[in-house]
Amino acid sequence: MIPNEEKDEEESAMKKLISLMLAAVLLLTALPVMAESNGKALIIYFDYSENIDTTGLDVDAVSSASIAEGPGIRDRSNLLVMVDLLKDRTGAEVVPLHVEEVYAPMFDDMVGKAQADKNENIQFTFTEALPDLTDVDTIYFGSAIWWYGMPQPVVNFFQRVDLSGKKLMYFSINRGSRNYEVLETLAELQPDTDVFAEVSISAMQDNERTADEFSSWLDSIGL
Ligand SMILES: Cc1cc2nc3c(=O)[nH]c(=O)nc-3n(C[C@H](O)[C@H](O)[C@H](O)COP(=O)(O)O)c2cc1C
Repeated sequence: MIPNEEKDEEESAMKKLISLMLAAVLLLTALPVMAESNGKALIIYFDYSENIDTTGLDVDAVSSASIAEGPGIRDRSNLLVMVDLLKDRTGAEVVPLHVEEVYAPMFDDMVGKAQADKNENIQFTFTEALPDLTDVDTIYFGSAIWWYGMPQPVVNFFQRVDLSGKKLMYFSINRGSRNYEVLETLAELQPDTDVFAEVSISAMQDNERTADEFSSWLDSIGL
């Protein structure tokens, strides 16, 4: 016979052990969920107006590079408007891509070269190291459409990173073409990436209209 006091002590120790085991089980099952929700999101983009040769240009000419060619009056690149909106909605860190081999500021002076860059698979040098994507699980990537698809510096980005298992949303601006070739290039260069959404918005409109359109689209995907 165990005396009552000893029995109580044994029961309470047993209860403590069971509680500890339960807590351990709960913690272990919760960990993968926490790891998933802790994943970082990044907004990465390449914008022409930020990658032009500014030698001898004034600031206005820089902010309107290529934009001057369009029929609508835009204060700044519509892509940058989209980047700002996405940042407001998601709070994600923004990573602009800049290349050493900047483009000529006028469309006519760079359009042929931009095509040759793609045809010849030219390799650009980024001015900064590409972001560390180890802890990143979602990437929002933005660019204009050049020659039916990604500008070559963007192709280079996707050639040099590994987005396996990550989620990608691609947003672009266009003057008629959409994301068909972009999606083909992604399937080829990053076959194990989950492209969970994509949108291409016309650049031939003002910043406000672009913001409205992109905003509605973000609503539609729950962002
Ligand atoms: C080199 C170059 C090639 C382009 N090729 C295409 C194209 O194939 N399809 C298209 O819809 N837009 C094309 N565009 C237009 C861009 O998509 C447009 O410049 C971009 O949407 C930004 O517009 P904005 O500079 O007028 O604001 C091209 C622009 C450049 C600079």
